Amino acid sequence: MKKIAVFASGSGTNFQAIIDATKEGKLDCEISLLVCDQPGAKCIERAEQSSIPALVLSPKEFTSKAEYEARILQELEEKQVEFIALAGYMRLIGKTLLSSFEGKIVNIHPSLLPSFPGKDAIGQAFDAKVKVTGVTIHYVDEGMDTGPIIAQEAVKIDEMDTRYDLQKKIQKVEHQLYVNTLSNLFQ
Ligand code: GAR
Repeated sequence: MKKIAVFASGSGTNFQAIIDATKEGKLDCEISLLVCDQPGAKCIERAEQSSIPALVLSPKEFTSKAEYEARILQELEEKQVEFIALAGYMRLIGKTLLSSFEGKIVNIHPSLLPSFPGKDAIGQAFDAKVKVTGVTIHYVDEGMDTGPIIAQEAVKIDEMDTRYDLQKKIQKVEHQLYVNTLSNLFQ
């Protein structure tokens, strides 16, 4: 069974969807580690509740990104992690991790990339008044929300939708699309 690490910075609803899918037998992998760069984030509680080890670090306590990622790499190697799923990890992946996990890091982003990369993609799409946005799963390279696209699903923005409505619609699609895409990748 593939050993994976999930990287998250916030609430971790996608992390939870991945946890639930492994428990329900819909996703064939072992979540060996949560890596979180935000002490106090809700995703850490989710890891605890499911007895998943968590590596929680404050990047500002390291002298460089390379040093920060070397610490993560040490833990990934100890746990024999083979694959990394970014789930709301709001930090660019640097050379240290990219070179050790080439083609083995994926990210989820709440827009139809290349539209609306970066932070608050849902707000960006809402403010732009587009009629369709969506969710993208892609391999990670050194760019911000760039890298080869693996899967996308569109989400319609209806006239009456509030920003909150849109967020809920996107989250629903994210949770299913991430689990299904990972499941296909792990076959
Ligand atoms: C998700 O919408 C994810 O797509 C987004 O952060 C959110 C995390 O939510 N990621 C990005 O914007 C990456 N650029 P969650 O913590 O509830 O899973």
